[in-house]
Amino acid sequence: MASPLPPRASLSPAPHVRLSRATVPAGHRRDIAHVLIPEKRIQRRVDELAAAVSADYRGKELVMVALLNGTVAFLADLMRRMEFPLTLDLMGVSSYRSGTSSGELTYTKRLKLDVRGRHVLVIDDILDTGKTLTAVTQELNSLGAATLRTCVLLDKPTSRPTGGFEADYVGFVVPHLFVVGYGLDYAEKYRNLPFVGVLKREVYAPDAAK
Ligand code: IMP
Ligand code: MG
Repeated sequence: MASPLPPRASLSPAPHVRLSRATVPAGHRRDIAHVLIPEKRIQRRVDELAAAVSADYRGKELVMVALLNGTVAFLADLMRRMEFPLTLDLMGVSSYRSGTSSGELTYTKRLKLDVRGRHVLVIDDILDTGKTLTAVTQELNSLGAATLRTCVLLDKPTSRPTGGFEADYVGFVVPHLFVVGYGLDYAEKYRNLPFVGVLKREVYAPDAAK
């Protein structure tokens, strides 16, 4: 049986971000209206998240379970700051979104590792309605994880009722906007942006802009 986890290490409250005044790099100006979180600010916060997670899991058998595809950038940065052995598995979850609203959940890749009796930390890009993390944490509990916590880069609490799903480690609280970049996509694009930005409205609602 896994040894108990310590209480969560202190992590400063997730800052509420507003549109930044950083200029959008020329190559992205056609589709991106604003930078919401500049690259350096993301990196500084990932340092803080990694320090808190490391303090809690160092010396434990941590299994990080990251959800595909939105976590690619965040996961790569976060896991390289963990200076102790851990194991990684990936889970493919797709919510068949139409446009920017979420739909039914399907698994596109199941776990390979056995999580029974292990400390599991689920990594996701953004907590929006909470449907994804509610389903995924239920699934991991049913697979017998000893402890389960969640870590998200972004939290959009305006999409959930009070008392809805809350993550244990949160990078930033973002306003009620559809955001892309640093792994997050719209129609599988924009994941490669090094910052988190706001799409121009005409990109996702071409008719509304006319
Ligand atoms: P939830 O199930 O509504 O919490 O949505 C979680 C998933 O929806 C995330 O893992 C993202 O893949 C996607 N998502 C939610 N909001 C956004 C957004 O603003 N931009 C890009 N993807 C988003
Ligand atoms: Mg996702």
